[in-house]
Amino acid sequence: MKILSRHRLLRRAGFRKRRPPDRQAACAAPDATQTARTRAFPKTPLICKTRGSGNLKSGNLKMGKFADNYDTCMRPLERRIFAARRRRLIPLATGDVLEVGGGTGANLPFYRGVRSLTFTDPDPAMLRIAQSKPRPTDLPVTFRAAAAEALPFPDAGFDTVVVTLVLCSVASPARALAEIRRVLRPGGALLALEHIRPPGLLGYVADALTPLQKRLAAGCHLNRATRRAVAEAGFVIERETLSALDIVAEIEATTAPTPS
Ligand SMILES: C[S@@+](CC[C@H](N)C(=O)[O-])C[C@H]1O[C@@H](n2cnc3c(N)ncnc32)[C@H](O)[C@@H]1O
Repeated sequence: MKILSRHRLLRRAGFRKRRPPDRQAACAAPDATQTARTRAFPKTPLICKTRGSGNLKSGNLKMGKFADNYDTCMRPLERRIFAARRRRLIPLATGDVLEVGGGTGANLPFYRGVRSLTFTDPDPAMLRIAQSKPRPTDLPVTFRAAAAEALPFPDAGFDTVVVTLVLCSVASPARALAEIRRVLRPGGALLALEHIRPPGLLGYVADALTPLQKRLAAGCHLNRATRRAVAEAGFVIERETLSALDIVAEIEATTAPTPS
């Protein structure tokens, strides 16, 4: 009988030797790196563990290492759920656009014909990755570190604000939405793609899992009542589309127009 070495046996069983990710290589060729990592973890769970506590804090969020693992953790969910919804929602952004909590830049490829894009996130590691993401060559984008609860912009400077998978993580959705409203022009649009607390029994499951999720995913809540928060912040909700067991919400809302 042929005797195989331990390494060969492991390779045949589908295990690969894991090498420490090379940050430079990840920036230069993100797809190649992601593919290798995704193969090592073919079935990524909904809750994705992040390593370390990072080096910065904003609200309840510990940041830093979260960024390194984010794209890998999200890849299966992006394919099955989020990419199609981003493709539908993001091209609706017009004029001067502010993206809040833009993370690693998953929305960047989907902007079309905007006058300007100001892309923000409080985590410099996220911003670094976002800068290397593919985006339309004619997209006039500025990257800036900022937290949603204290946006460093004057009142009424933007036509559209985009938030995707952010209101689940901010320390105070009410403060974040008040800031978003402040920086929007009268009649301006809020475009949101968020996972929310689903109705019925699943809502209780979301409640039960949230303490664990907060620890594993940088303060992310599975049970935020985002639609209510948007309405309570004074937005007029024009469209809300629920999907994925009513866990995922696309929201188009506007600031009330100034009376003429
Ligand atoms: C789950 S990620 C979503 C990233 C990206 N928007 C997307 O759709 O893939 C959450 C993002 O929110 C950011 N974030 C956390 N707390 C924040 C805050 N207080 N203000 C703004 N962004 C925040 C994180 O740094 C992270 O990039």
